[in-house]
Amino acid sequence: MQLSPVFRALLTSVVCASAAVAAQYATGQWSLVQEGHSGVSALELAVVSETTVMIFDKVEHNPLQTNGHVAWASELDLISRTVRPLNPTSNTWCGAGSFLSNGTMISSGGNPIVIAGGNGLAAIRLFTPCEDKSCDVEENQSVRRMASLRWYHSSVRLEDGSLMLFGGSWDNAIINMPNITNPTYEFFPPKNIHGHNGTPIYVPFLDETLNANYFPLLIQLPDGNFFVAANKKAIIWDWKTNQEILRLPDIPNNITITNPIPASATLLPLTPENNYTPEVLICGGSAYPDDIPSWDRFAMSSQEPTSDQCIRIALTDEGIAQGWEVETMPQPRIMSEMVVLPDGRVLILNGAQTGISGYTWASEQIGESDADHPALTPVLYDPLAAPGERFTQEGLPTSEIARMYHSTASLTPNASVLIAGSNPNDDIQTNTTTHPFPTEYRLEWLSPPYMEHTRPSYTGLPDTFDYNAEIALDVTLPEGTQNVSAVLMDFGFATHGVHMDQRLVGLVSELSADGTQLTVTGPPTPQIFSPGPGYIFVLADGVPSFGHKTLIGTGAQPPFDQDAFDSVLSRQPVYWDDWTNFHPEASEEERQLFSTISAPAATSTSGSTTGY
Ligand SMILES: *[C@@H]1O[C@H](CO)[C@@H](O)[C@H](O)[C@H]1NC(C)=O
Ligand SMILES: *[C@@H]1O[C@H](CO)[C@@H](O)[C@H](O)[C@H]1NC(C)=O
Ligand SMILES: *[C@@H]1O[C@H](CO)[C@@H](O)[C@H](O)[C@H]1NC(C)=O
Ligand SMILES: *[C@@H]1O[C@H](CO)[C@@H](O)[C@H](O)[C@H]1NC(C)=O
Ligand SMILES: *[C@@H]1O[C@H](CO)[C@@H](O)[C@H](O)[C@H]1NC(C)=O
Ligand SMILES: *[C@@H]1O[C@H](CO)[C@@H](O)[C@H](O)[C@H]1NC(C)=O
Ligand SMILES: *[C@@H]1O[C@H](CO)[C@@H](O)[C@H](O)[C@H]1NC(C)=O
Repeated sequence: MQLSPVFRALLTSVVCASAAVAAQYATGQWSLVQEGHSGVSALELAVVSETTVMIFDKVEHNPLQTNGHVAWASELDLISRTVRPLNPTSNTWCGAGSFLSNGTMISSGGNPIVIAGGNGLAAIRLFTPCEDKSCDVEENQSVRRMASLRWYHSSVRLEDGSLMLFGGSWDNAIINMPNITNPTYEFFPPKNIHGHNGTPIYVPFLDETLNANYFPLLIQLPDGNFFVAANKKAIIWDWKTNQEILRLPDIPNNITITNPIPASATLLPLTPENNYTPEVLICGGSAYPDDIPSWDRFAMSSQEPTSDQCIRIALTDEGIAQGWEVETMPQPRIMSEMVVLPDGRVLILNGAQTGISGYTWASEQIGESDADHPALTPVLYDPLAAPGERFTQEGLPTSEIARMYHSTASLTPNASVLIAGSNPNDDIQTNTTTHPFPTEYRLEWLSPPYMEHTRPSYTGLPDTFDYNAEIALDVTLPEGTQNVSAVLMDFGFATHGVHMDQRLVGLVSELSADGTQLTVTGPPTPQIFSPGPGYIFVLADGVPSFGHKTLIGTGAQPPFDQDAFDSVLSRQPVYWDDWTNFHPEASEEERQLFSTISAPAATSTSGSTTGY
């Protein structure tokens, strides 16, 4: 590109490109386009490569078929906007997902058999992304599995590139309860820590936060500890020692922020400008009480109000002393999604304004939906704006599609937002056409104003990008560009309003005097961005390039402890006996899932809070 003299002068005046505060955003029109179908209902969704997205559903009568049965997983091609079926062998419903340091995605847990597939409660499924449509889900519970049953648990990638699998329950229910909770965490690959050779480790916070603590919020902090929040409580917690480091102030105004009345949450951008100071944003939830009788069938209503509260806290001594900053978003919401944009702003979309998660449970059901009043217009949150000026819906398109229970959204590598899912129905076969909120297969693509600008572009990103390493990207910047920066993003894994692992990390970068090379420095530490897949955007005055994929770190597989791995395989998963005892209706085949294992199941009792 031939630079004009004015352009050159402007560029050379920018000494250190990343020092510019990215508070200027590209102006223009938002657009919302409906195109493509997900084939299965998109209740779990993750971008897995520059051109593909993995979608997992629950086993139901989807239109997409595979190997003579209904499909419940698909891979979406972002270019052609078409899907091909994937072939997990167990029910993925209500599982969790994260990527390992070597780029393989792990889907964990799920549901018993419904109309096809196997029991997925202890499943570990591998999916190594490919660009040529040859890859599929790899699953065999005789070869690898979890040490306990998990449904509605959370998953997160750790600083060593392995995963932590946390909480949930061993039986499916509308809400967690003392008699079904799994108040423990474990790892994949399994670890031998605290004398737990692969076996689950008890966390008191998971008992303390019953009942509404499905899909606990887990955010890794730059010091390696975790922000953990569930129900109305939040702590700082050290997974290595299993110690609660600090008790944070309770969620203000008695609001519950996790499933089945979930808020959405994200870590705000960690940047060199804010010295990688962690700040957490949580929006929505509900003040509905979570004690058991109130969750008896038909006790609550689809018309129950939800919360419009947004709360934010900086996790520094000062920030914690100040406590939660309370803000109000334009509409109340549960089951919404938060999508961090490459320019550092946060989009809040999807969800319902009244009711609870799930179907067939509340009174005043809408079809079978336990929620009503879909939130159809996204909200944009600018974390750098002054209080009172952070939310806007101006120019944001209103959708005609309700995206409530089992809906998802994700940033794509091209920086648009993919919106999918919603099935507040027991099965698509039940009255899809007569229900006001049918199972939804239509995809929508939301384009922020930056999409209509001339985009910067770059080449030269290596397959792996190590901590503090310097790489030189060949950049092509739009004419007149003033400020250039680079950000590293984890798009995360979306399900049930929870966006596991999502984060944006600003990278130190420096533009060459002629404006054609951007030297970018890798993230400072594995606590700031865990080793594994990341997408790098170069921004020119708030307009992002395409986000190319790399593996942060070396791309090596996570630590593998053969003893701990074998130990998990040597016994039945914890709670398997409880599950089979409680489900006499389960088929003989399903009950035989772990029958070849001779060692007795690890001792467990329903609702046990000891023994870990
Ligand atoms: C699962 O692994 C076991 C042990 O290696 C093997 O015997 C079995 O055939 C495998 N199952 C499938 C469906 O591949
Ligand atoms: C747990 O308790 C609830 C509420 O009393 C009950 O409906 C459910 O059947 C129990 N589940 C198990 C597995 O004991
Ligand atoms: C908070 O909500 C619970 C029900 O979830 C209720 O029992 C309690 O009284 C409420 N506390 C306050 C201070 O309103
Ligand atoms: C569909 O709705 C009709 C009318 O509400 C009802 O009679 C029928 O049982 C429903 N069908 C199914 C499969 O639920
Ligand atoms: C990315 O978005 C731009 C619009 O900003 C569009 O022209 C281009 O085709 C998109 N590229 C891909 C690979 O989707
Ligand atoms: C570039 O950054 C400076 C400093 O933050 C800001 O004042 C200016 O408006 C930015 N320019 C553009 C075009 O974004
Ligand atoms: C990544 O690591 C996991 C766990 O060790 C392993 O099972 C998987 O095969 C690895 N993936 C690749 C692509 O090597």
